[in-house]
Formats: sequence, C-alpha cells, structure tokens
Amino acid sequence: MLACRAIRVPRFRMTATPIDKMPRHKRIAVIAGDGIGAEVTREAIKVLSAATLGGEHRLDFTEFDWGAERFLRDGTTLPQGAVGMLRRDFDAILFGAVGDPRVPSNKHAADILLGLRAKLDLYVNLRPVELFDDSLTPLRGRGTSDVNFFVIRENTEGLYVGVGGHFARGTPNEVAVQEDVNTRKGVERIIRYAFEFARARRLGRICMCDKSNAIAFGHELWQRVFAEVRPEYTDIESRHLYVDTLAMELVRDPSQFRVIVTCNLFGDILSDLGAQLAGGLGLAPSGNIHPGKISLFEPVHGSAPNIAGKNLANPSGAVLASALMLDHLGMSQAAEALRGAVRAAVRAKQTTTDIGGSLGTREAGDWLAAHVQRSS
Ligand SMILES: NC(=O)c1ccc[n+]([C@@H]2O[C@H](COP(=O)([O-])OP(=O)(O)OC[C@H]3O[C@@H](n4cnc5c(N)ncnc54)[C@H](O)[C@@H]3O)[C@@H](O)[C@H]2O)c1
Repeated sequence: MLACRAIRVPRFRMTATPIDKMPRHKRIAVIAGDGIGAEVTREAIKVLSAATLGGEHRLDFTEFDWGAERFLRDGTTLPQGAVGMLRRDFDAILFGAVGDPRVPSNKHAADILLGLRAKLDLYVNLRPVELFDDSLTPLRGRGTSDVNFFVIRENTEGLYVGVGGHFARGTPNEVAVQEDVNTRKGVERIIRYAFEFARARRLGRICMCDKSNAIAFGHELWQRVFAEVRPEYTDIESRHLYVDTLAMELVRDPSQFRVIVTCNLFGDILSDLGAQLAGGLGLAPSGNIHPGKISLFEPVHGSAPNIAGKNLANPSGAVLASALMLDHLGMSQAAEALRGAVRAAVRAKQTTTDIGGSLGTREAGDWLAAHVQRSS
C-alpha cells in the first residue's frame, strides 16, 4: 500500500486570471522520513509556500509516510510500485532524512534512499558549498569570496554499488572484497554534466579529481574520458588533481575551485569537507539529479536522533535543498529568494543555535518564510 497524505499549503484567491497567466502546477512528493527530517521538511515547505504564493507557479505537496515508523509498523520500506508512481505522478521529490536507532540495520533507510537513487538513476549528486558569512568558516583569514564552489559527485557507481563479498567470514583468514565499479557510460555522463553545468552557470573552471596513480584500472578510465571530453569545452579551464592533493588544496586555498567533479566515494568525503568550510551540516543542501527527469532534493545531514523533537534542528539545509529543487523545476527566481533568505538570516544571526543564533527550528523557518514573502 502506498500511504500518502496531502499537505495543506496556501492557495491562490480565485480571480479572473487569463488562461496563459494561470499558475502552473508542480507536483512535489514529500518523504520527510525520520527524526529531524520531518522537522526541517515542515519548515522547508513553509518557506517554499511563501516563495510561490501569488507567483506563476504553484506547488502541490503530497506526503508519503515512508520511514522507520512505517517500517516498524508493517515492514514496508519502499513500497512496490512506488518508483513508477513517482515517475508518473510527480515532478520532484523533497526528502528529509532517514535513520532511526530502533532500526540498527538501517534496512529501511537503504531501501528508501539508496533505492530511489538507483532506481530513478539519479546519477548526479550536486553539492553547492557557499559560505554565507565570514564568521562561519573555520579557515583563518578566509571569507565569503573564498568559499564558493560545487562538488559534483557520481551518484550511482563506484564502491557504493554493493558488489563484493566475504570469504572465510569470521575466521582469522577472512577476506572482504568490495568492487569499485566504473563504467564508460557512468564516467562520461558525470564529466559531461560537470562541463555543461560550469558552462551554463559561467563558472569558468572545473577540476576532475581521481586517484589514478593508485587505482590503476577504474580511475585510468576517468583520466581517458576526461582527456576525450575536455577539448569540447575550450571555454572552460579544466585541470586534474589527485584526491589527496585536492583535499590539501581545499583547505589551503578553496578560492581556486568552482566545480569539482569526482567519483562516488571521493565526492562523499570532499563535499563534507566543503560543508565544514561553509559553516557545517546544518547549512548543507544536496540534489540527487537525473537531468530532465524526476529528481530528489535533501539536506545533507541525517536524522540526528540526539536533537530530534527538541526544536533545535537547523532548517537551512532543507531550505537550500528546496532552492536546488526550484532550480531543477525552472523556477530560478523563487530559488534565489530562498537562498537570499538564508543568506540574510545568517548575516542577521536569525538562525538556530548550531550556527550562533538563538532561534528554534520553527522560529527560524518563520523568519525565512517572512523574509521570502517580503522580498517577492
Ligand atoms: N541522507 C540521509 O538520510 C542521512 C544522511 C546521514 C546520516 N543519516 C542517518 O541519520 C542517523 C544519524 O546519523 P549521524 O548522527 O551520523 O549524522 P547526522 O547528520 O544526523 O548528525 C550529525 C551531527 O550533526 C548534528 N546535526 C545534523 N543536522 C543538523 C541540523 N540540521 N541542525 C543542527 N544540528 C544538526 C547532529 O545533532 C549530530 O550532532 C543515522 O541513522 C544515519 O544513518 C541519514
């Protein structure tokens, strides 16, 4: 059974609007998930509703109760038919977080989130890293003009596909093998996406990161594909760094980077490094994207059981993820309004306590929604 419930969002007043000016509906599937996932998603919807109120687009939200509670109740993780239904009936997915101490195996989380990433072929993991206020970076002497880049992580291959096994498990002779899967198609499409992204946003330069000096087969493929594709983008400065050098350079001088494209594992690590350069997990958004198709947008953080239910979670990551969703839906003005609100909140210290403010989750969401409404 697919369980869902419609969320009430502000509606437009009935007026005599000409047909070509009628608001266009975008259908958003909401999977709020566990712990603070539900709390920050509620605030994100509040801010999204403020951004679209009275505009040419309307968002219709439908919530699905997939998460630990449902799993513990009836064993459901990602219900049968869910992927087809999402593809058919929705334009985007707004995701909170999954993970609950009552499910130590994390089975529901793996089925739901990894399942959606794989089955919807969401091959791009887009992680913007933007410092909104100098005070938030741990780097001495660095400011907002130094930390402003995107990590584009391959999201469907690499070491995360789960190919491998154990031999003689539990014995002193145990062997564990985990395969690093790199396909020509997978590597080429993520490298091309990064170039196209840099071109569309006039970012000027990209850096491809691998470890081909040690991972001689898989990452040599990245080298070859990069060498083949880069001549098609002479308008974009492109370079290569090994991942160890890149990690050092990101800390020494992050201003060198505008777009970093890399494999699943390195992207996972480097984007968390980036999140800390820009103020921490509470502010970090991500998009799991298949260009032109239904895609999933979520804050980077998890369900944070240690602060769940305490009105402490920072909703900014979820709001910035919502901005990425609006970009994907072609609503760039509304997306900018959301980013502008988070920027303003950080500067005015109207934030939750994790980044120096004194507001609760709900109050921070109210402030962002009011700012968006005032500015639109
Ligand atoms: N995409 C996802 O759904 C996702 C991602 C990471 C972890 N998880 C799951 O979440 C659960 C908890 O994992 P974890 O503790 O390692 O990571 P976490 O991101 O949930 O929390 C790490 C730390 O950051 C803090 N934090 C996280 N988000 C915050 C926010 N918005 N505002 C203020 N503080 C915030 C937490 O309080 C905690 O101290 C686990 O079950 C894990 O598997 C899920």
